[in-house]
Amino acid sequence: MSQYVMAIDQGTTSSRAIIFDRAGRVVSIGQREHDQIMPQAGHVEHDAMQIWQNVQEVIGTALGRADATDRDIAAIGITNQRETTVVWDRHTGIPVCNAIVWQDTRTQGIVDRLAADGGADRFAAITGLPLTSYFSASKISWILDHVEGARARAEAGDLLFGTTDCWVLWNLTGGVDGGVHITDVTNASRTLLMDLATLEWRDDLLGAFDIPRSMLPEIRSSSEVYGEAEYSSLLRGTPVAGILGDQQSATFGQAAFDAGESKNTYGTGCFLLFQTGEEIVHSSNGLLTTVGYQLGEAPAHYALEGSIAVTGSLIQWLRDQLGLIHSAAEVEHLARSVPDNGGVFVVPAFSGLFAPYWRPDARGAIVGLTRFSNRGHIARAALEAVAFQTRDVLDAVNADVTQAGGIPLTELRVDGGMVANETLMQFQADVLGVPVVRPEVAETTALGAAYVAGLAVGFWSGLDELRANWAEDRRWQPQMDEDARERQLRLWRKAVTKSMEWVDE
Ligand code: G3P
Repeated sequence: MSQYVMAIDQGTTSSRAIIFDRAGRVVSIGQREHDQIMPQAGHVEHDAMQIWQNVQEVIGTALGRADATDRDIAAIGITNQRETTVVWDRHTGIPVCNAIVWQDTRTQGIVDRLAADGGADRFAAITGLPLTSYFSASKISWILDHVEGARARAEAGDLLFGTTDCWVLWNLTGGVDGGVHITDVTNASRTLLMDLATLEWRDDLLGAFDIPRSMLPEIRSSSEVYGEAEYSSLLRGTPVAGILGDQQSATFGQAAFDAGESKNTYGTGCFLLFQTGEEIVHSSNGLLTTVGYQLGEAPAHYALEGSIAVTGSLIQWLRDQLGLIHSAAEVEHLARSVPDNGGVFVVPAFSGLFAPYWRPDARGAIVGLTRFSNRGHIARAALEAVAFQTRDVLDAVNADVTQAGGIPLTELRVDGGMVANETLMQFQADVLGVPVVRPEVAETTALGAAYVAGLAVGFWSGLDELRANWAEDRRWQPQMDEDARERQLRLWRKAVTKSMEWVDE
Protein backbone atom coordinates (compact mmCIF):
# COMPACT_ATOMS: atom_id res chain seq x y z
CA MET A 1 0.00 0.00 0.00
CA SER A 2 1.24 3.48 -0.82
CA GLN A 3 2.61 5.25 2.23
CA TYR A 4 2.83 8.84 1.02
CA VAL A 5 1.02 11.71 -0.72
CA MET A 6 2.84 14.28 -2.84
CA ALA A 7 1.97 17.99 -2.97
CA ILE A 8 3.19 20.25 -5.75
CA ASP A 9 3.32 23.86 -4.51
CA GLN A 10 3.69 26.21 -7.48
CA GLY A 11 4.35 29.50 -5.63
CA THR A 12 5.19 33.06 -6.61
CA THR A 13 8.94 32.70 -6.09
CA SER A 14 9.53 28.95 -6.36
CA SER A 15 8.04 25.58 -7.18
CA ARG A 16 8.26 22.78 -4.65
CA ALA A 17 7.31 19.15 -4.39
CA ILE A 18 6.79 17.87 -0.87
CA ILE A 19 6.12 14.28 0.15
CA PHE A 20 4.04 13.77 3.32
CA ASP A 21 3.37 10.68 5.39
CA ARG A 22 0.07 9.73 7.02
CA ALA A 23 0.80 11.81 10.13
CA GLY A 24 1.16 14.89 7.92
CA ARG A 25 4.91 15.02 8.47
CA VAL A 26 7.31 16.13 5.75
CA VAL A 27 9.30 13.20 4.31
CA SER A 28 11.21 15.09 1.61
CA ILE A 29 11.26 18.37 -0.31
CA GLY A 30 12.46 19.46 -3.75
CA GLN A 31 12.49 23.20 -4.42
CA ARG A 32 13.58 25.51 -7.24
CA GLU A 33 13.16 29.27 -7.69
CA HIS A 34 12.12 30.76 -11.02
CA ASP A 35 12.87 34.16 -12.54
CA GLN A 36 10.91 37.24 -11.53
CA ILE A 37 10.67 39.15 -14.80
CA MET A 38 9.99 42.87 -14.33
CA PRO A 39 10.34 44.55 -17.73
CA GLN A 40 8.92 47.88 -16.54
CA ALA A 41 7.27 49.51 -13.53
CA GLY A 42 4.06 47.69 -12.64
CA HIS A 43 4.80 44.63 -14.80
CA VAL A 44 5.61 41.29 -13.12
CA GLU A 45 5.92 38.16 -15.28
CA HIS A 46 6.89 34.49 -15.03
CA ASP A 47 8.05 32.13 -17.76
CA ALA A 48 5.44 29.35 -17.59
CA MET A 49 7.72 26.92 -19.46
CA GLN A 50 10.45 27.47 -16.88
CA ILE A 51 7.88 26.84 -14.15
CA TRP A 52 6.85 23.52 -15.74
CA GLN A 53 10.53 22.51 -16.13
CA ASN A 54 11.12 23.32 -12.47
CA VAL A 55 8.04 21.38 -11.37
CA GLN A 56 9.33 18.28 -13.16
CA GLU A 57 12.74 18.71 -11.60
CA VAL A 58 11.48 19.16 -8.04
CA ILE A 59 9.22 16.11 -8.35
CA GLY A 60 12.33 14.09 -9.21
CA THR A 61 14.27 15.61 -6.33
CA ALA A 62 11.53 14.93 -3.77
CA LEU A 63 11.09 11.32 -4.96
CA GLY A 64 14.86 10.76 -4.90
CA ARG A 65 15.28 12.19 -1.40
CA ALA A 66 12.43 10.03 -0.06
CA ASP A 67 13.80 7.03 -1.93
CA ALA A 68 10.25 6.66 -3.28
CA THR A 69 8.78 5.52 -6.59
CA ASP A 70 5.33 5.97 -8.11
CA ARG A 71 4.14 2.94 -6.10
CA ASP A 72 4.76 4.82 -2.83
CA ILE A 73 2.65 7.83 -3.81
CA ALA A 74 -1.09 7.36 -3.28
CA ALA A 75 -2.05 10.67 -4.92
CA ILE A 76 -0.77 14.05 -6.02
CA GLY A 77 -2.29 17.38 -4.92
CA ILE A 78 -1.56 20.77 -6.47
CA THR A 79 -1.50 24.15 -4.78
CA ASN A 80 -0.49 27.40 -6.43
CA GLN A 81 0.02 31.14 -6.49
CA ARG A 82 -3.48 32.27 -7.38
CA GLU A 83 -4.65 34.63 -10.15
CA THR A 84 -1.37 34.46 -12.14
CA THR A 85 -2.52 34.04 -15.72
CA VAL A 86 -1.14 31.64 -18.34
CA VAL A 87 -2.53 31.51 -21.90
CA TRP A 88 -1.19 28.76 -24.13
CA ASP A 89 -1.80 27.00 -27.43
CA ARG A 90 -3.66 23.70 -26.93
CA HIS A 91 -1.96 22.16 -30.01
CA THR A 92 1.67 23.01 -29.17
CA GLY A 93 1.57 23.49 -25.39
CA ILE A 94 3.48 26.76 -25.84
CA PRO A 95 2.35 29.87 -23.92
CA VAL A 96 1.59 32.89 -26.13
CA CYS A 97 3.55 35.19 -23.77
CA ASN A 98 4.95 35.24 -20.26
CA ALA A 99 2.46 34.59 -17.48
CA ILE A 100 1.09 37.80 -15.95
CA VAL A 101 1.63 37.57 -12.20
CA TRP A 102 -1.01 38.46 -9.58
CA GLN A 103 1.08 41.46 -8.43
CA ASP A 104 1.14 42.98 -11.94
CA THR A 105 -0.86 46.23 -12.25
CA ARG A 106 -0.68 46.83 -16.03
CA THR A 107 -4.42 46.20 -16.43
CA GLN A 108 -5.50 49.10 -14.22
CA GLY A 109 -6.85 50.89 -17.32
CA ILE A 110 -9.10 47.93 -18.19
CA VAL A 111 -10.59 47.75 -14.70
CA ASP A 112 -10.96 51.54 -14.48
CA ARG A 113 -12.95 51.54 -17.73
CA LEU A 114 -15.27 48.82 -16.41
CA ALA A 115 -15.59 50.53 -13.01
CA ALA A 116 -16.58 53.80 -14.72
CA ASP A 117 -19.88 52.10 -15.50
CA GLY A 118 -21.21 50.84 -12.17
CA GLY A 119 -18.30 51.33 -9.77
CA ALA A 120 -15.50 49.11 -8.48
CA ASP A 121 -18.00 46.81 -6.73
CA ARG A 122 -20.23 46.19 -9.74
CA PHE A 123 -19.40 42.45 -9.81
CA ALA A 124 -18.90 42.01 -6.05
CA ALA A 125 -22.33 40.56 -5.27
CA ILE A 126 -21.72 37.74 -7.80
CA THR A 127 -17.98 37.15 -7.48
CA GLY A 128 -17.15 38.39 -3.95
CA LEU A 129 -14.38 40.54 -5.47
CA PRO A 130 -13.81 44.21 -6.24
CA LEU A 131 -12.78 45.19 -9.76
CA THR A 132 -8.98 45.36 -9.52
CA SER A 133 -6.00 44.32 -11.61
CA TYR A 134 -5.21 41.61 -8.98
CA PHE A 135 -7.64 39.03 -10.42
CA SER A 136 -7.22 37.03 -13.64
CA ALA A 137 -9.98 38.40 -15.88
CA SER A 138 -8.33 41.69 -16.86
CA LYS A 139 -5.02 39.87 -17.37
CA ILE A 140 -6.63 37.50 -19.90
CA SER A 141 -8.23 40.48 -21.67
CA TRP A 142 -4.88 42.25 -21.84
CA ILE A 143 -3.20 39.22 -23.42
CA LEU A 144 -5.95 38.86 -26.03
CA ASP A 145 -5.65 42.55 -26.90
CA HIS A 146 -1.85 42.89 -26.89
CA VAL A 147 -0.35 39.63 -28.14
CA GLU A 148 -0.44 39.62 -31.91
CA GLY A 149 -3.04 37.22 -33.27
CA ALA A 150 -4.08 36.02 -29.81
CA ARG A 151 -7.71 37.09 -30.02
CA ALA A 152 -8.28 35.38 -33.38
CA ARG A 153 -6.58 32.19 -32.13
CA ALA A 154 -8.68 32.28 -28.94
CA GLU A 155 -11.87 32.76 -30.93
CA ALA A 156 -10.92 29.83 -33.15
CA GLY A 157 -10.67 27.70 -29.98
CA ASP A 158 -6.90 27.24 -30.17
CA LEU A 159 -5.91 28.92 -26.89
CA LEU A 160 -6.40 27.81 -23.31
CA PHE A 161 -6.35 29.89 -20.13
CA GLY A 162 -5.35 28.63 -16.73
CA THR A 163 -3.96 29.74 -13.40
CA THR A 164 -0.77 27.84 -12.59
CA ASP A 165 -2.60 24.90 -10.95
CA CYS A 166 -4.35 24.35 -14.28
CA TRP A 167 -1.14 24.78 -16.28
CA VAL A 168 0.70 22.24 -14.11
CA LEU A 169 -2.25 19.80 -14.16
CA TRP A 170 -2.60 20.01 -17.96
CA ASN A 171 1.10 19.27 -18.44
CA LEU A 172 1.22 16.63 -15.71
CA THR A 173 -1.67 14.70 -17.25
CA GLY A 174 -0.20 14.60 -20.74
CA GLY A 175 -0.21 18.14 -22.19
CA VAL A 176 -0.86 18.11 -25.95
CA ASP A 177 -1.42 14.35 -25.71
CA GLY A 178 -4.67 14.57 -23.75
CA GLY A 179 -3.88 16.78 -20.75
CA VAL A 180 -6.97 17.59 -18.71
CA HIS A 181 -8.01 21.25 -18.68
CA ILE A 182 -9.47 21.64 -15.21
CA THR A 183 -9.22 24.07 -12.31
CA ASP A 184 -10.81 23.92 -8.88
CA VAL A 185 -13.45 26.15 -7.30
CA THR A 186 -10.96 28.05 -5.13
CA ASN A 187 -8.82 29.12 -8.08
CA ALA A 188 -11.86 29.84 -10.24
CA SER A 189 -13.17 32.12 -7.48
CA ARG A 190 -10.14 34.40 -8.04
CA THR A 191 -10.77 35.18 -11.69
CA LEU A 192 -13.73 37.62 -11.42
CA LEU A 193 -15.50 35.29 -13.85
CA MET A 194 -17.15 32.75 -11.53
CA ASP A 195 -20.47 32.98 -9.71
CA LEU A 196 -19.79 32.17 -6.05
CA ALA A 197 -23.23 30.63 -5.55
CA THR A 198 -23.45 28.36 -8.61
CA LEU A 199 -19.67 27.74 -8.90
CA GLU A 200 -19.94 28.23 -12.68
CA TRP A 201 -18.49 30.68 -15.19
CA ARG A 202 -20.87 33.57 -15.99
CA ASP A 203 -21.49 34.56 -19.59
CA ASP A 204 -22.19 38.20 -18.64
CA LEU A 205 -18.80 38.46 -16.94
CA LEU A 206 -17.04 36.77 -19.86
CA GLY A 207 -18.82 39.31 -22.08
CA ALA A 208 -17.73 42.27 -19.94
CA PHE A 209 -14.08 41.21 -20.23
CA ASP A 210 -14.49 39.98 -23.82
CA ILE A 211 -13.14 36.48 -23.14
CA PRO A 212 -14.24 33.46 -25.24
CA ARG A 213 -15.67 30.71 -23.04
CA SER A 214 -13.75 28.02 -24.95
CA MET A 215 -10.50 29.20 -23.31
CA LEU A 216 -11.68 28.46 -19.80
CA PRO A 217 -11.04 25.26 -17.89
CA GLU A 218 -13.78 23.12 -16.41
CA ILE A 219 -14.43 23.98 -12.75
CA ARG A 220 -14.30 21.00 -10.39
CA SER A 221 -14.24 20.47 -6.64
CA SER A 222 -10.97 20.71 -4.69
CA SER A 223 -10.90 16.99 -3.89
CA GLU A 224 -11.60 14.38 -6.58
CA VAL A 225 -9.58 12.43 -9.14
CA TYR A 226 -9.06 14.74 -12.14
CA GLY A 227 -6.79 12.41 -14.09
CA GLU A 228 -3.55 10.46 -13.87
CA ALA A 229 0.04 11.66 -14.17
CA GLU A 230 1.30 10.89 -17.67
CA TYR A 231 4.24 13.17 -18.27
CA SER A 232 7.05 10.71 -17.53
CA SER A 233 7.72 7.29 -16.09
CA LEU A 234 8.40 8.78 -12.65
CA LEU A 235 4.80 9.03 -11.56
CA ARG A 236 2.89 7.46 -14.46
CA GLY A 237 -0.60 6.37 -13.43
CA THR A 238 -0.62 8.21 -10.09
CA PRO A 239 -3.97 9.97 -9.56
CA VAL A 240 -3.94 13.75 -9.43
CA ALA A 241 -6.73 14.24 -6.93
CA GLY A 242 -6.66 17.64 -5.26
CA ILE A 243 -6.28 21.33 -6.09
CA LEU A 244 -6.46 24.33 -3.74
CA GLY A 245 -5.23 27.89 -4.26
CA ASP A 246 -2.27 28.36 -1.93
CA GLN A 247 -4.02 30.47 0.71
CA GLN A 248 -7.02 28.16 0.88
CA SER A 249 -4.56 25.29 1.02
CA ALA A 250 -2.70 26.76 4.01
CA THR A 251 -6.04 27.21 5.77
CA PHE A 252 -6.87 23.55 5.10
CA GLY A 253 -3.37 22.49 6.19
CA GLN A 254 -3.93 24.35 9.47
CA ALA A 255 -7.03 22.16 9.96
CA ALA A 256 -9.13 25.37 9.99
CA PHE A 257 -12.15 23.72 8.33
CA ASP A 258 -15.08 25.20 10.22
CA ALA A 259 -16.83 28.58 10.36
CA GLY A 260 -14.94 30.90 12.71
CA GLU A 261 -11.54 29.25 12.15
CA SER A 262 -8.75 31.21 10.48
CA LYS A 263 -5.04 31.54 9.66
CA ASN A 264 -2.56 34.11 8.40
CA THR A 265 0.19 33.06 5.95
CA TYR A 266 3.40 35.10 5.67
CA GLY A 267 4.73 34.57 2.12
CA THR A 268 5.47 36.99 -0.72
CA GLY A 269 2.33 38.71 0.54
CA CYS A 270 0.19 37.96 3.60
CA PHE A 271 -3.24 36.43 3.38
CA LEU A 272 -5.61 36.07 6.31
CA LEU A 273 -8.53 33.70 5.68
CA PHE A 274 -11.53 33.35 7.97
CA GLN A 275 -13.88 30.44 7.26
CA THR A 276 -17.60 31.21 7.13
CA GLY A 277 -18.87 27.66 6.47
CA GLU A 278 -21.48 27.09 3.76
CA GLU A 279 -22.61 30.71 4.00
CA ILE A 280 -21.45 33.36 1.51
CA VAL A 281 -20.70 36.40 3.68
CA HIS A 282 -20.06 39.76 2.01
CA SER A 283 -17.70 42.11 3.81
CA SER A 284 -18.49 45.71 4.61
CA ASN A 285 -14.88 46.31 5.65
CA GLY A 286 -12.72 45.70 2.58
CA LEU A 287 -12.34 41.91 2.66
CA LEU A 288 -12.87 39.55 -0.27
CA THR A 289 -15.34 36.68 -0.31
CA THR A 290 -13.79 33.54 -1.72
CA VAL A 291 -14.34 29.79 -1.87
CA GLY A 292 -12.51 28.08 1.01
CA TYR A 293 -12.76 24.50 -0.29
CA GLN A 294 -15.15 21.96 -1.73
CA LEU A 295 -14.72 18.25 -1.08
CA GLY A 296 -16.17 16.22 -3.96
CA GLU A 297 -19.95 16.45 -4.19
CA ALA A 298 -20.33 18.15 -0.78
CA PRO A 299 -21.38 21.83 -0.67
CA ALA A 300 -18.61 24.42 -0.99
CA HIS A 301 -17.25 26.19 2.08
CA TYR A 302 -16.59 29.92 1.85
CA ALA A 303 -14.19 32.32 3.51
CA LEU A 304 -13.51 36.00 4.02
CA GLU A 305 -10.00 37.00 2.97
CA GLY A 306 -7.73 39.92 3.78
CA SER A 307 -5.07 40.01 1.06
CA ILE A 308 -1.89 42.01 1.57
CA ALA A 309 0.23 42.27 -1.58
CA VAL A 310 3.69 42.97 -0.17
CA THR A 311 5.25 41.48 2.95
CA GLY A 312 7.97 38.88 2.22
CA SER A 313 8.63 40.59 -1.11
CA LEU A 314 9.47 43.76 0.84
CA ILE A 315 12.37 41.86 2.43
CA GLN A 316 13.42 40.63 -1.04
CA TRP A 317 13.30 44.26 -2.18
CA LEU A 318 15.61 45.29 0.66
CA ARG A 319 17.96 42.54 -0.51
CA ASP A 320 17.75 42.77 -4.31
CA GLN A 321 16.88 46.38 -5.06
CA LEU A 322 18.45 48.25 -2.12
CA GLY A 323 21.29 45.83 -1.28
CA LEU A 324 20.61 46.51 2.41
CA ILE A 325 20.99 42.83 3.32
CA HIS A 326 22.63 39.84 1.62
CA SER A 327 20.06 37.23 2.57
CA ALA A 328 16.45 37.45 3.67
CA ALA A 329 17.35 35.85 7.01
CA GLU A 330 19.73 38.73 7.75
CA VAL A 331 16.84 41.16 8.15
CA GLU A 332 16.09 39.89 11.66
CA HIS A 333 19.67 40.40 12.79
CA LEU A 334 19.69 43.93 11.37
CA ALA A 335 16.29 44.75 12.88
CA ARG A 336 17.57 43.62 16.27
CA SER A 337 20.57 45.97 16.05
CA VAL A 338 18.22 48.79 17.13
CA PRO A 339 15.85 48.80 20.13
CA ASP A 340 12.90 50.18 18.16
CA ASN A 341 11.97 51.69 14.78
CA GLY A 342 13.35 55.11 15.76
CA GLY A 343 10.18 56.72 14.39
CA VAL A 344 10.59 55.20 10.89
CA PHE A 345 7.63 53.58 9.09
CA VAL A 346 7.66 51.77 5.74
CA VAL A 347 4.42 51.41 3.75
CA PRO A 348 5.16 48.90 0.95
CA ALA A 349 2.39 49.93 -1.47
CA PHE A 350 4.32 48.55 -4.46
CA SER A 351 1.17 47.21 -6.16
CA GLY A 352 -0.99 49.91 -4.62
CA LEU A 353 -2.61 48.87 -1.34
CA PHE A 354 -4.77 45.74 -1.19
CA ALA A 355 -7.05 44.91 1.77
CA PRO A 356 -8.63 46.62 3.50
CA TYR A 357 -7.88 49.81 1.52
CA TRP A 358 -8.02 48.70 -2.17
CA ARG A 359 -6.15 51.76 -3.38
CA PRO A 360 -4.37 50.94 -6.66
CA ASP A 361 -3.02 54.49 -6.83
CA ALA A 362 -1.14 54.31 -3.50
CA ARG A 363 2.65 54.15 -3.75
CA GLY A 364 5.35 52.95 -1.35
CA ALA A 365 6.55 55.36 1.31
CA ILE A 366 9.27 55.53 3.95
CA VAL A 367 8.38 58.23 6.46
CA GLY A 368 9.78 59.56 9.72
CA LEU A 369 13.41 59.69 8.55
CA THR A 370 15.89 61.82 10.48
CA ARG A 371 19.70 62.10 10.42
CA PHE A 372 19.59 59.54 13.26
CA SER A 373 17.89 56.86 11.11
CA ASN A 374 20.07 53.95 10.02
CA ARG A 375 19.85 50.61 8.17
CA GLY A 376 18.64 48.91 11.32
CA HIS A 377 15.66 51.24 11.62
CA ILE A 378 14.66 50.64 8.01
CA ALA A 379 14.98 46.86 8.42
CA ARG A 380 12.92 47.03 11.60
CA ALA A 381 10.30 49.26 10.02
CA ALA A 382 10.04 46.80 7.09
CA LEU A 383 9.37 43.88 9.45
CA GLU A 384 6.92 45.97 11.43
CA ALA A 385 5.08 46.87 8.21
CA VAL A 386 4.24 43.18 7.83
CA ALA A 387 2.71 43.12 11.31
CA PHE A 388 0.89 46.47 10.96
CA GLN A 389 -0.71 45.45 7.67
CA THR A 390 -1.89 42.22 9.32
CA ARG A 391 -3.38 44.28 12.16
CA ASP A 392 -5.36 46.36 9.63
CA VAL A 393 -6.75 43.18 8.08
CA LEU A 394 -7.55 41.62 11.45
CA ASP A 395 -9.46 44.77 12.42
CA ALA A 396 -11.53 44.38 9.23
CA VAL A 397 -12.24 40.70 10.01
CA ASN A 398 -13.27 41.55 13.57
CA ALA A 399 -15.50 44.38 12.35
CA ASP A 400 -17.28 42.03 9.92
CA VAL A 401 -17.56 39.29 12.53
CA THR A 402 -18.96 41.52 15.26
CA GLN A 403 -21.41 43.16 12.81
CA ALA A 404 -22.71 39.64 12.17
CA GLY A 405 -23.09 39.04 15.93
CA GLY A 406 -19.95 36.89 16.31
CA ILE A 407 -16.93 37.19 18.60
CA PRO A 408 -13.59 38.78 17.57
CA LEU A 409 -10.59 36.49 17.06
CA THR A 410 -8.94 35.49 20.32
CA GLU A 411 -5.70 34.23 18.75
CA LEU A 412 -4.09 34.04 15.31
CA ARG A 413 -2.76 30.83 13.75
CA VAL A 414 0.22 31.62 11.53
CA ASP A 415 2.36 29.85 8.93
CA GLY A 416 4.63 30.55 5.95
CA GLY A 417 8.32 31.32 5.58
CA MET A 418 8.43 34.43 7.78
CA VAL A 419 7.07 32.74 10.91
CA ALA A 420 10.62 31.56 11.62
CA ASN A 421 11.36 35.23 12.40
CA GLU A 422 10.95 35.50 16.19
CA THR A 423 11.25 39.28 16.24
CA LEU A 424 8.41 39.60 13.73
CA MET A 425 6.19 37.09 15.55
CA GLN A 426 6.65 38.83 18.91
CA PHE A 427 5.92 42.20 17.32
CA GLN A 428 2.89 40.68 15.60
CA ALA A 429 1.45 39.54 18.94
CA ASP A 430 2.28 42.98 20.39
CA VAL A 431 0.43 44.97 17.73
CA LEU A 432 -2.53 42.58 17.59
CA GLY A 433 -2.94 42.31 21.34
CA VAL A 434 -3.81 38.59 20.99
CA PRO A 435 -1.53 35.53 21.02
CA VAL A 436 0.08 34.31 17.80
CA VAL A 437 0.29 30.53 17.41
CA ARG A 438 2.59 28.52 15.11
CA PRO A 439 1.90 24.82 14.35
CA GLU A 440 4.53 22.08 14.36
CA VAL A 441 4.23 21.51 10.60
CA ALA A 442 4.91 24.96 9.16
CA GLU A 443 4.53 23.62 5.55
CA THR A 444 0.78 24.09 5.76
CA THR A 445 0.35 25.29 2.17
CA ALA A 446 1.64 22.05 0.69
CA LEU A 447 0.02 20.01 3.45
CA GLY A 448 -3.46 21.32 2.54
CA ALA A 449 -3.05 20.15 -1.06
CA ALA A 450 -1.76 16.78 0.12
CA TYR A 451 -4.78 16.49 2.43
CA VAL A 452 -7.42 17.14 -0.27
CA ALA A 453 -5.69 14.70 -2.66
CA GLY A 454 -5.33 12.07 0.06
CA LEU A 455 -8.98 12.43 1.12
CA ALA A 456 -10.12 11.86 -2.48
CA VAL A 457 -8.37 8.48 -2.71
CA GLY A 458 -9.14 7.34 0.85
CA PHE A 459 -5.55 7.78 2.12
CA TRP A 460 -7.03 9.75 5.05
CA SER A 461 -10.41 8.82 6.48
CA GLY A 462 -11.83 12.32 7.02
CA LEU A 463 -11.42 15.70 8.62
CA ASP A 464 -11.15 14.33 12.18
CA GLU A 465 -8.02 12.40 11.29
CA LEU A 466 -6.53 15.58 9.82
CA ARG A 467 -7.48 17.62 12.91
CA ALA A 468 -5.62 15.10 15.06
CA ASN A 469 -2.45 15.76 13.03
CA TRP A 470 -2.39 19.46 14.04
CA ALA A 471 -0.12 20.31 16.97
CA GLU A 472 1.04 23.61 18.45
CA ASP A 473 4.74 24.36 18.26
CA ARG A 474 5.08 27.86 19.71
CA ARG A 475 2.90 30.68 21.08
CA TRP A 476 3.81 34.38 21.38
CA GLN A 477 1.92 36.41 24.00
CA PRO A 478 1.45 40.18 23.59
CA GLN A 479 3.98 42.07 25.74
CA MET A 480 3.59 45.68 24.60
CA ASP A 481 1.53 47.93 26.86
CA GLU A 482 -1.70 49.38 25.54
CA ASP A 483 -0.47 52.99 25.28
CA ALA A 484 2.63 52.07 23.31
CA ARG A 485 0.54 49.91 20.95
CA GLU A 486 -1.98 52.68 20.33
CA ARG A 487 0.79 55.21 19.63
CA GLN A 488 2.50 52.89 17.13
CA LEU A 489 -0.80 52.17 15.39
CA ARG A 490 -1.64 55.88 15.20
CA LEU A 491 1.71 56.60 13.53
CA TRP A 492 1.34 53.63 11.18
CA ARG A 493 -2.08 54.84 10.03
CA LYS A 494 -0.65 58.30 9.43
CA ALA A 495 2.09 56.74 7.29
CA VAL A 496 -0.56 54.84 5.30
CA THR A 497 -2.36 58.10 4.53
CA LYS A 498 0.94 59.50 3.18
CA SER A 499 1.25 56.57 0.76
CA MET A 500 -2.29 57.25 -0.44
CA GLU A 501 -1.62 60.94 -0.97
CA TRP A 502 1.27 60.15 -3.30
CA VAL A 503 -0.72 60.11 -6.51
CA ASP A 504 0.96 60.85 -9.81
CA GLU A 505 -1.70 63.01 -11.49
O1 G3P B 1 -3.11 35.67 -4.31
C1 G3P B 1 -1.73 35.49 -4.43
C2 G3P B 1 -1.25 34.39 -3.56
O2 G3P B 1 -1.91 33.20 -3.86
C3 G3P B 1 0.26 34.27 -3.67
O3 G3P B 1 0.75 33.55 -2.62
O4 G3P B 1 2.44 32.50 -1.22
O5 G3P B 1 2.87 32.69 -3.66
O6 G3P B 1 2.90 34.70 -2.18
P1 G3P B 1 2.34 33.35 -2.42
